[in-house]
Amino acid sequence: MVTERIYIEDKDHPKEAQLKKPAEILKNGGLVAFPTETVYGLGANALNEEAAKKIYAAKGRPSDNPLIAHIADFKDLPDLVLEVPEAGKKLMEAFWPGPLTLIFPKSRRVPYGTTGGLDTVAVRMPDHPVANALIRLAGVPIAAPSANTSGRPSPTTADHVCQDMNGKIEMIVDGGAVGIGVESTIIDVSGNEPMILRPGAITQEMASKVLGQEIRLDPAITSGPMSQEVKPKAPGMKYKHYAPKADLTLVEGEPEAVIGTINRLVKEKLSKGFQVGIICTEETKEHYHDGMIKSMGFRAKEETIAHNLYAVLREFDDLNADFIFSESFQDTHLGQAIMNRLTKAAGYHIIQTEKEKTL
Ligand code: TXA
Ligand code: MG
Repeated sequence: MVTERIYIEDKDHPKEAQLKKPAEILKNGGLVAFPTETVYGLGANALNEEAAKKIYAAKGRPSDNPLIAHIADFKDLPDLVLEVPEAGKKLMEAFWPGPLTLIFPKSRRVPYGTTGGLDTVAVRMPDHPVANALIRLAGVPIAAPSANTSGRPSPTTADHVCQDMNGKIEMIVDGGAVGIGVESTIIDVSGNEPMILRPGAITQEMASKVLGQEIRLDPAITSGPMSQEVKPKAPGMKYKHYAPKADLTLVEGEPEAVIGTINRLVKEKLSKGFQVGIICTEETKEHYHDGMIKSMGFRAKEETIAHNLYAVLREFDDLNADFIFSESFQDTHLGQAIMNRLTKAAGYHIIQTEKEKTL
């Protein structure tokens, strides 16, 4: 299959004429990658089981991993869900359109092929003019996982999508680099207690404020390597996601100790002839001297770190790094999403510098 790529000149004012063709492809059961404010999505008609199947094939994704249905208008929600619980209502009103996915009990219209056999459905209303115009024109809810090959970092540019999906899908709508850079927050409102299944740009603190009570994280997210006992409620969270080709290690602790440890480990690996990368920040980059040094952004502005995280991991793939050592981040606010993605990319390989010193 030849993958066509179209460029949207002004992503804030996409021309309807340009989006007619991709909308038509979606309507007719084809696959189109498109930008959202979080990451690029790989879209298909969410009500068409055959179309959903094509997504799993293009991504190489396990079929028990459900898809998110994207809508562009509030009026499109009732068709997809059995009911909208009070917590869902509050969160929708506060954060839609935006980087928040809500899990509801599903209606009969949503096929099990989209929900991975579950009786719940994930719904999100993105906040991106291209995504929203495309969904509206297609006239159906659009199932869209991140547009990467399963197990690779999510794509934040159309070039990333092309690297993974060229020849496998009908079209890529290129709307430039995305804004946020990590996938939406997922909150399950289908049970007795709302719960965060995946941290994102709508933070635990923001959701708690709107709900008027502290919202908890799915224990499987915080409990480290997935064990048999704690199964994550979002099936996708159990896979080793976001994995770079290199062996990635996170280093935690006081800034000086982290820098010292990373410099020592990098020297060790270089002396053995390996290609070694360092993931650091603008505040610390001048303290590293050896290996391939990449800053993700400003520690003091975590949105810059989220924005560049996946691109930096992909760059190291292209550079054929054997080992990567990365600084870590605080586990609150947006840092929660950043650390969630980084620890998974590292396969939970974390070095605590304090402990190292006492050894
Ligand atoms: O930001 C995003 O959410 C992006 C853009 C394209 O919108 N999409 C995205 O989709 O990240 P995906 O498929 O890569 O991640 C969806 C996650 C998976 O972990 C999946 O298991 C979970 O949502 N999920 C979907 N439906 C669910 C359900 N009914 N119950 C629990 N988890 C669900
Ligand atoms: Mg994904």
